[in-house]
Amino acid sequence: MLSVDYNLDHSNMKKINFGVFIIALVFTSCGNKRHPGKIYMPDMAYSRAYETYEPRNFKGEGFNYVSYPVKGTIRRGDLFPYTVPNDSNGFKMSAATKDPLPPLDTLGMNEAQRLYNINCGICHGTKLDAQGPLAVSGKVGGIVNLKLAPYKDYAPGTIFHVVTYGKGNMGSYASQLDKKQRWMVVQYVKSQQAPAGGLTAQSDSSLRVTAPADTTAKL
Ligand code: HEC
Repeated sequence: MLSVDYNLDHSNMKKINFGVFIIALVFTSCGNKRHPGKIYMPDMAYSRAYETYEPRNFKGEGFNYVSYPVKGTIRRGDLFPYTVPNDSNGFKMSAATKDPLPPLDTLGMNEAQRLYNINCGICHGTKLDAQGPLAVSGKVGGIVNLKLAPYKDYAPGTIFHVVTYGKGNMGSYASQLDKKQRWMVVQYVKSQQAPAGGLTAQSDSSLRVTAPADTTAKL
């Protein structure tokens, strides 16, 4: 049986008195807003939480910390950066850029179709025939039929280039689709262009698929 001793001796009373004192101190010490108390270990109260990629000279401040990724490194799982420039020369060079993805399986192709329908179908139409709602309503002019020449013969890299940077009335899709998703959409577009007689990079190795001369890019 557990028994409780109610006979508090002298030392226990001292402990209780001390406890009451501490509690009173806690309640009174923060009362005066004009004279805030001292902070014990301010580093813990206000942590040095810096933003990622904060433009700041940490080395100069005495910290051995680099807030930027090391130059030339890429995010784990990310594709290599696309470095072909957004100008007329870059447009021509884009045809030589190879698709880094393996050919998509059925599941991947379904996802690519979904991405195409969401991001491109609104203008180019789900059948690539420039019959999307924004084309039919006339809200966006100059939408091209991707099943007709010269577009059906575009190299995958050139389609990637156009989706990355945009062209004419078409904006860039680099912020909506990451690099992998853009290449997936490219594979879907090429898969739909092939039955329309569109050339693919794989059609024939002796066949060099090049983009037609760019007439619209100004830079
Ligand atoms: C807001 C409407 C719109 C959307 C959405 C759109 N496009 Fe376009 N696209 C256009 C227009 C307009 C052009 C004609 C651009 C020009 O050359 O002036 C074009 C041109 C193109 C071309 C040919 C580029 C050239 O050389 O003229 C390709 C390839 C293309 N689009 C692919 C896509 C893909 C893939 C997507 C989805 C990621 C997409 N587009 C989404 C409007 C759109």
